[in-house]
Amino acid sequence: MGTKIVGTGVYLPKSVLTNFDLEKMVDTSDEWIMTRTGIKERRIAKEETITHMATQAAKEALKDGSTSPEELDLIILATLTPEKRFPATACLVQAQLEAKGVYSFDISAACSGFLYGLDIADSFIKAGKAKKVLVIGAEKLSEAVDWEDRSTCVLFGDGAGAVLFENSEDESDVLATKMYSEGSLEELLYADKCGYIRMKGRELFKVAVRSMEEVCREVLEKANVKPEEISLVIPHQANVRIINALAEKLGLPKEKFYVNIHKYGNTSAASIPIALHEAIKEGKIKRGDLVLMTAMGGGLTWGAALLRY
Ligand code: UT7
Repeated sequence: MGTKIVGTGVYLPKSVLTNFDLEKMVDTSDEWIMTRTGIKERRIAKEETITHMATQAAKEALKDGSTSPEELDLIILATLTPEKRFPATACLVQAQLEAKGVYSFDISAACSGFLYGLDIADSFIKAGKAKKVLVIGAEKLSEAVDWEDRSTCVLFGDGAGAVLFENSEDESDVLATKMYSEGSLEELLYADKCGYIRMKGRELFKVAVRSMEEVCREVLEKANVKPEEISLVIPHQANVRIINALAEKLGLPKEKFYVNIHKYGNTSAASIPIALHEAIKEGKIKRGDLVLMTAMGGGLTWGAALLRY
């Protein structure tokens, strides 16, 4: 039994916040943000709720995969900004989709959330427990950002991405996965008592590069694939300098790394499914290509997944 990707979708809020807008809000500059992070602008959800963004991305993925909501067996939603403490945002999306009675839950793994969701979806499908699984990464980080803290408020943005997975008799698209967490490193990236994101950026940077390099090598080894065989790497979009450092460590050219951070900033759990969707629609991934995805975030959590798309 294999797991196939059959559809993708995104929702990006209409409202754009540029680095020049931020210059008027905190003591920062377009030059600092661009050179330190690669971010030019990000989207901010104004009227849109996280449920709305997630539902729109889900609808597009279902349409892309010619699947109706009631055919789903499972909806997994990864977020660190749920609509409410409970019910799970996945249940609110399930209701909006009118996916009657479909098993739905949230997972909390910050920026690695989508890859955690992919790994769970793949396990359910390969175990024969589900045939059609929707994995959504959605974030309204504008609500979790302290807009007076220049060291974090320039980094994040809002958005949602969704991927529809389906069982298949053919070879699996998901060749290897590996996920990790280490709560003793919590203080590097966490939400404070008010729910605001706090980060020790410089230390986190080093951990991010090292942990993603190691886990990428691990999944490549598991699948007996050499780095140079990879067509495209879709890394979590936290900082273009992290992406470039990872490329160097893996001995791969920067051109093999998909980057859209300049448009959206860091959208945490939404970052990889948004990037995957755009890479497919731009023709940067074709059927049969080997695609490596990797992320690291709050938890700390990190992981990688190797696909043959
Ligand atoms: O999504 C989860 C994973 N996330 C990550 O892995 C993020 C990892 N960390 C990073 O991407 C980077 O560390 C940051 C982008 C967060 C920061 O970049 P940095 O090059 O590590 O800068 P820094 O924190 O070392 O700060 C350098 C200077 C400081 O000033 P002094 O002490 O040198 O005078 C900061 O106060 O830049 C200052 N600074 C700013 N200046 C203008 C910090 N934020 C800003 C800002 N505008 N927005």
